[in-house]
Amino acid sequence: MTLIQLKNLSVKIGQKQVLRNIDLDIPEGSVTAIVGPSGSGKTTLLRTLNLLQVPSEGTIEVDGVLATANHISKDTTRKIRDKSTMVFQQFNLFKNLTALGNVMSPLIYNKIAKFDEAEKIAQQTLANLGLEQIADQYPVTLSGGQQQRVSIARALVSKPKVVLFDEPTSALDPELVASVLNTIATLALQNITMVIVTHEIEFARQIANQAIFVEDGAIVAQGDAKTLLSAEGDGRVSAFVNSLDNRAHIEAFQ
Ligand SMILES: Nc1ncnc2c1ncn2[C@@H]1O[C@H](COP(=O)(O)OP(=O)(O)OP(=O)(O)O)[C@@H](O)[C@H]1O
Ligand SMILES: [Mg+2]
Repeated sequence: MTLIQLKNLSVKIGQKQVLRNIDLDIPEGSVTAIVGPSGSGKTTLLRTLNLLQVPSEGTIEVDGVLATANHISKDTTRKIRDKSTMVFQQFNLFKNLTALGNVMSPLIYNKIAKFDEAEKIAQQTLANLGLEQIADQYPVTLSGGQQQRVSIARALVSKPKVVLFDEPTSALDPELVASVLNTIATLALQNITMVIVTHEIEFARQIANQAIFVEDGAIVAQGDAKTLLSAEGDGRVSAFVNSLDNRAHIEAFQ
């Protein structure tokens, strides 16, 4: 079943056409990798999926809620935002809260659960990611990889329809990348719908169902991740793939 559908979607920021004529279907339970050169519009596309970026043309439908450019009400925005959560490059944890407090925060803030219930759900979510031992630690005492995994727990705790990742490992020291990729890979095995902007091509090949290649604001290639992200072809995508470091970082699929 299609969970997210973009039709003829364009985004203008100021005078600049940042995305043009995007058509994209994201099936429920699938992983979609977004790859492409710097400045091509990957982050903007991800932000459009939860209306942090407003489209100038076209439509976006998320889990049955339709938003049409220039006719998007506050109610529609809220409904669509409620369906997704985002994981950022820079973790964005609250420094004054423990790992547990961070994971509880969406439940409390969005009035999904009262304190005791929120604490229980958050503890379970941390445990599912193997993080129960650091629940009481503050972000400053955690490695970048641990902080990012806590922020993934925080993104999952409210059971969103889709989790959006914007280069989740690119701020990490190389030796910490694998821990985060493995965590994301375990979510893929649980059929959690995810859209991931990444330069980790080997990872994308292994866990993504579909991949899209964005260049100059347009989807210029799209298809099965293993095929599209192959280094063997002679097209634009293979050239891009070959320009990146393609070390395999994850063990979950090996
Ligand atoms: N708020 C903004 N104001 C002006 N221009 C913007 C804004 N946001 C994005 N852009 C422009 O839109 C284009 C796409 O930006 P975007 O951040 O989506 O690219 P990206 O593919 O995520 O790049 P990177 O790989 O470097 O993260 C860039 O040319 C950028 O300068
Ligand atoms: Mg970006």
